[in-house]
Amino acid sequence: MALPTETVYGLAADALNVRAIRQIFEIKKRPFYDPLIVHVTCLEKLLELVELDTKLLSTVSTLVEAFSPGPLTYVLPKKSWIPDLVTSGQTTVAVRIPQHPLFQEVMLRSRCFIAAPSANPFGYISPTSASHVLQSLDGQLRHILDGGDCPIGVESTIIDLSQSKLCLLRPGKITREEIQPLLPDQEIEDYVAIAYDGPTKLPAPGLPQQHYSPKTPLYLFSKKSELPLAMAENVARVFLSKRDPADGGPDDFFLSEDGNLEVVARQLFALLRTLDHSHRYEKIYCQCPLPEGLGMAIADRLRRAAYLKDIP
Ligand code: TXA
Ligand code: MG
Repeated sequence: MALPTETVYGLAADALNVRAIRQIFEIKKRPFYDPLIVHVTCLEKLLELVELDTKLLSTVSTLVEAFSPGPLTYVLPKKSWIPDLVTSGQTTVAVRIPQHPLFQEVMLRSRCFIAAPSANPFGYISPTSASHVLQSLDGQLRHILDGGDCPIGVESTIIDLSQSKLCLLRPGKITREEIQPLLPDQEIEDYVAIAYDGPTKLPAPGLPQQHYSPKTPLYLFSKKSELPLAMAENVARVFLSKRDPADGGPDDFFLSEDGNLEVVARQLFALLRTLDHSHRYEKIYCQCPLPEGLGMAIADRLRRAAYLKDIP
């Protein structure tokens, strides 16, 4: 079934039910090498899944106290009984304590550890409403629990705590700048920030490089001056803020009134999806924020969605 979380909708199944987990991969057409996040209600349940020494227990406890329930996922050494299918045979498991009351209630009532990737076909834009889930996966799900629009709109921050050097694997609402001060004697590497080189260049190894992509080709720009003077027909232009001097024509779209990045994050996937499904546009030009704070997560998703395309 599909369930709302505070970040995006998830395609959920009992993490210990291998048949159900296999169905998740099949419905999403997700490669089996890409592991799932397991969701739990609280720290006590999280600790049932992982193997921690004293130092790691202290790190995890600090982060959970500060950020969970919420949009932070911890990659930790796993207990051996967690199915390999969930973790793609790795020695680690990604665990998150989601904050959404409906997701919490399903976990409490079912008493399950719930594995849930985003409820979209692999590589496509993540769903931030029940209707998005239906749009992509209609006919393949028995239930969608409608919790309205997701308040955050981009996927959780993922931090790998399993290696000697802590590493931020995916930027999200919770930023490295917020996490680092709580762990003053451990430096957190930033996988995405280190590996990016230029507006659309992507990290070499690791997480899939092209992801979150609309079918309509997406191109990124920072300032309006980078846009071609004479716009071709059938091009949508997406700006971060209404304050940006756009023409305000029928093909101009705005992600917020005033550039507030929380609003931008909440609207981003929905707008890209709407433009994609309108079939009115051959190209989408989208303004990319500076990779700072929440802008880091938004820029990351946009760069992956635009994958190596610069404005022609
Ligand atoms: O906000 C979210 O995290 C949403 C909601 C539904 O919780 N879930 C989500 O799941 O975004 P998914 O499957 O779309 O993305 C999970 C990411 C994948 O890129 C996967 O490679 C990574 O987490 N991941 C999972 N287990 C991992 C592990 N053991 N080590 C490193 N990365 C892992
Ligand atoms: Mg996903």
